Amino acid sequence: MSREVRRVVGTLHATGAFFDAAVCLLRRVGVEHRSHSVATLRSAQLLPRLAKAVPELVGGWPLIGHLPDFLRDPVSMLSRGWREKGELFRFRLGPREFVLFTGPEAHDFYFRAPEDQLNAKAVYQFTVPIFGRGVAYDASPELMDEQLGFLFPALREAAMIRFARIMSEETRWFADALGEEGEVDLPVAMNELTVRIASRCLIGQEVRDQVDAGFAEAYHDLQKGINTLGFFLPRLPTTAHRSRDRARRRVADLFSRIMSERRRSGACPDDFMQALMHARYKDGRALSDDEITGILLTVLFAGQHTSAVLATWTGLELVRAPSYLARVRDEMQDVYREEGAVTLASLKRQVALEHAVRECERLHPPLIMLIRKVLKPVRYGDHIVPAGTLAMVSPAVSHRLPHVFADPERFSPERFDPPACEDKQHQYALIGFGGGKHVCMGKHFAYLQLKAIWTVLLDRFDLYLDTVFPAPNYGSWVTGPETPCRLRYRRRSQASLVQ
Ligand code: HEM
Repeated sequence: MSREVRRVVGTLHATGAFFDAAVCLLRRVGVEHRSHSVATLRSAQLLPRLAKAVPELVGGWPLIGHLPDFLRDPVSMLSRGWREKGELFRFRLGPREFVLFTGPEAHDFYFRAPEDQLNAKAVYQFTVPIFGRGVAYDASPELMDEQLGFLFPALREAAMIRFARIMSEETRWFADALGEEGEVDLPVAMNELTVRIASRCLIGQEVRDQVDAGFAEAYHDLQKGINTLGFFLPRLPTTAHRSRDRARRRVADLFSRIMSERRRSGACPDDFMQALMHARYKDGRALSDDEITGILLTVLFAGQHTSAVLATWTGLELVRAPSYLARVRDEMQDVYREEGAVTLASLKRQVALEHAVRECERLHPPLIMLIRKVLKPVRYGDHIVPAGTLAMVSPAVSHRLPHVFADPERFSPERFDPPACEDKQHQYALIGFGGGKHVCMGKHFAYLQLKAIWTVLLDRFDLYLDTVFPAPNYGSWVTGPETPCRLRYRRRSQASLVQ
């Protein structure tokens, strides 16, 4: 800050007009003004303005608050809150008080907040019975960072080159098994395919080999352990939780056997499991088999179902938009006439397809809300969010803000083409993969996978959606379409471009 600014700041400090005047002055002297700098000024308590309670969304019921509306359609309910109250408002779901932060500036504040203010670990305790003790959200934030950090080398460019080949190969096998024509329940099909890809890329070939021999079933039982009751009472001995715990033991046994065999044979494949077997904590300690299992399950859970759901929405939207689909196919002609095979390089050239995936991330983010527990009161603008509140951002709501995305309900991947580049207007305009210290580590993997899947499937098949476009199913933690969601396919008469 220049001396002039500091002097005026000092003079205005005691007046209620300080903030607005300071912003005007900063603008006049050409200092960048973004609301997060405003939030920082405010949260740094330079401002004497009296803090106010966060505005409350009206229309809640005694005891249950907005729960009925929220369960029916959380996105409509939260969007109404934004329209009526703006970027910050509070509401109750049963006994819990929530505050929604909406819009790029509010996201900026939210994602930058330190862990001792907005805390993820306190919210994600329901994952502990699945991921295990001492890892991820059962570890300190520093230890969790160290554990996930072991995986970064396994996501670098060299690994992505290999992953692109695996993704395309698995999709080709999958396509071959579909035959000439038929019908698939798309979410189920994408789930099967992404389990195969994720188990092979993110864990190891041996686990992929076990997918049909029990691993898929155990993984499915683990997934069923993520339910609404489990969110509040993860250790309650329900039937679903008991089968979750049995499945956890089966998966741990399988992974331990694979690790023992690798140690015995000296096999050293280039995958996540091996990266973790080689890794050492800062104090020199190796990871236990149970820690390795927990970290692998963390990544698998974070990355597989979300990818299956976004792959499903991408297919559905492309089928519904024939003119854009034609553009994607033209691009495939250009790329694969020269390249022949699906590779990291060829997928990078498929910009039209990439923008279709991005538009589906915007319109159908698989995680429609991200939640943190407020551990210490936080001040955003003139408002104080008290400790104990659950602070939320909703990608599904924020991606429909008309001042950020033009005509927001429309599927329009062209919005990402230059010069509009609507996603680049603000770092946190598009937040389907989160932001800040908990930003998704698998975003590039996910994009690569979705592009590889749809490149192969569009090359092989013509696709038809005979029913109405499905509504989102908000009953699940990861928001896919209502099922069944049947897509008809027929093998294309044109020769395949893609091997
Ligand atoms: C379409 C697919 C995916 C979507 C939509 C997605 C979305 C997200 C989002 C929104 C977050 C932030 C959660 C929060 O702030 O509370 C996140 C975190 C995470 N994602 Fe993804 N993800 C996807 C795929 C993947 C893949 C493929 C991997 C693994 C390679 C992965 C690994 C993770 C991990 C480990 C975290 C936790 C990071 C942390 O808390 O530090 N995700 N993801």
